[in-house]
Amino acid sequence: MCGIVGYLGPNPAFPILIEGLQRLEYRGYDSAGIATLEEGCLLRVEKKKGKVVDLTNHIGEHAPTGTIGIGHTRWATHGPPNDVNSHPHLGGQGKIALIHNGIIENYEAIKELLTHRGHKLVSDTDTEVLAHFIEEVRISSGLDLPDAVRVALKEVVGAYAIVVLDQDHPDRLIAARKSSPLVIGVGSNNEFYVGSDATPIVAYTKNVVYLEDEEVATMHRSGELKIRTIGDVVITPEIHAIEMEIASLEKGGYEHFMLKEIFEQPRSIQDSIRGRVRLQTGEIHMSGIDDHWDVWNKAGRILIIGCGTSWHAGLVAEYLFESLARIPVEVEYASEFRYRNPIIRPDDVVIAISQSGETADTLAAIRLAKEQGAHVFGVCNVVGSSIARETHAGAYTHAGPEIGVASTKAFTAQVAVLSTMAIHLGHKLGRLEDKAFMRLISGLSNVPGLVDRVLSKAEPLLHVATVFASADNALYLGRGYQFPVALEGALKLKEISYIHAEGYPAAEMKHGPIALIDQDMPVIFIATHDEVYDKVVSNIQEVKARGGRIFSIVTEGDKKVRALSDHVFEVPKIHEALAPLLTAIPMQLLSYHIALLRGCNVDQPRNLAKSVTVE
Ligand code: AGP
Repeated sequence: MCGIVGYLGPNPAFPILIEGLQRLEYRGYDSAGIATLEEGCLLRVEKKKGKVVDLTNHIGEHAPTGTIGIGHTRWATHGPPNDVNSHPHLGGQGKIALIHNGIIENYEAIKELLTHRGHKLVSDTDTEVLAHFIEEVRISSGLDLPDAVRVALKEVVGAYAIVVLDQDHPDRLIAARKSSPLVIGVGSNNEFYVGSDATPIVAYTKNVVYLEDEEVATMHRSGELKIRTIGDVVITPEIHAIEMEIASLEKGGYEHFMLKEIFEQPRSIQDSIRGRVRLQTGEIHMSGIDDHWDVWNKAGRILIIGCGTSWHAGLVAEYLFESLARIPVEVEYASEFRYRNPIIRPDDVVIAISQSGETADTLAAIRLAKEQGAHVFGVCNVVGSSIARETHAGAYTHAGPEIGVASTKAFTAQVAVLSTMAIHLGHKLGRLEDKAFMRLISGLSNVPGLVDRVLSKAEPLLHVATVFASADNALYLGRGYQFPVALEGALKLKEISYIHAEGYPAAEMKHGPIALIDQDMPVIFIATHDEVYDKVVSNIQEVKARGGRIFSIVTEGDKKVRALSDHVFEVPKIHEALAPLLTAIPMQLLSYHIALLRGCNVDQPRNLAKSVTVE
């Protein structure tokens, strides 16, 4: 999940590389480094453990001036975060510098071969092995570097997005990818920008080329862009215009990206249903479904795959599709699905959910499902991402770039899109009558305003956070549609505050977790008015009887749960199928405030990265 950038053009590379790394730092922040070609083709490499700011402090006043360079911000896979293991890495002769996002699975075998040929490696990384290997291929074959890269990558097993700087050729940059994302920005003044995604590029150009798997691109200062497959097939570059706005990558006055993104949810939910839910005419339009009605009309089962928060959105969708469209659903962790030799039936439809559209396990699961003949529908937040491009159809969540590592607006946007799908399918399949359909699309259309209302009265959550901030553990409990929200609330808390938290179906508490309850254990209940409300009330009484500290999310006007709880937070009344769109909000804000009170880095939590592009 590292971030990689590159620049080739008439301007100094250093400021462009540093700004690009700062925009990509959410992808990994264990170490950072750059390499540029200076006056007289001197290869200058500066790299440091820590964040990009530590690198710039290390470089100080003597900034590089070269007009070609590469940069990297690391999430460590092989070798601990330290200066030596930081990227860029050099080939043995010190003439090529390489940065890499991914994992070279057969690096030990390659390392053994290189060692026999006298190569001396100084780091613990698979990336340095690749740099030496490319150089070895170039020297032993006499090939020009682009071809040496191509030939070397044919021997590599694993995932890579690389950019290579060649001391002997200051007029060209070489990039290649397989299973890790890479975007090339095409500037107006014979400039090229390389990024792991479009965020470091969009400030300079909206014209991008998405490199496909096993393609090698050679960018030249003349403005020429050559692309070949590693099998040496010439590819014609396809330029796409992206819509991302640079403003969407700034904090917009908020202290953290996470807080900004939490407060963007009225807009991101609205944008995710706009054009699809048409209240005036009482219709839903989803071309990703409607254009493939022959598939959906006979769907015998829906398999939902995802990771982390996206998996939680998939669990909400299970309740939605089964209750509203009466289609059997199974939800799977992508990492499990891809290795358990799953049985995929001809009438299965697979839904892959991913904010980044680059999660390695989800991408691999999609490829497996496609190999077995399934129709795969993607729910992604990044236009042009690998998952968006590899699925047969899909629906974008128009949440805008999500920079905070902890997913917030992407989750509610995913749930909004999945809710729209379930309502649409139920109605179109004749399993949801008109009256219920209209009630649901009216409710969905009101959600952005209700989220706004929830956000406008979120102040009391700060007090609850103060009470819970010193806890070592926490339990999140919900039933039905709120069980996945309990899981999501627990994930939010643990990933940004480092408090151990678990989400459970409320009824499951009696099968073990109730042993954890004491006066030090915060228990967060989601007890909104729905089919299982009375059952949740009983669970709250069981916790109260054992001295647990109870924080409950309730429907406005609730008295019963209020009387049983130490703290409550009210959300507006809404159809139970749409309630996760509201109850997720206090979960996000509670975690945010607790993490701040504990002095944690909310946007860049330790050990994490925004997009898990390695297994
Ligand atoms: C959620 O807050 C985490 N950042 C993480 O669990 C994330 O949801 C997971 O890695 C899946 O990412 P994706 O949606 O981009 O595929």
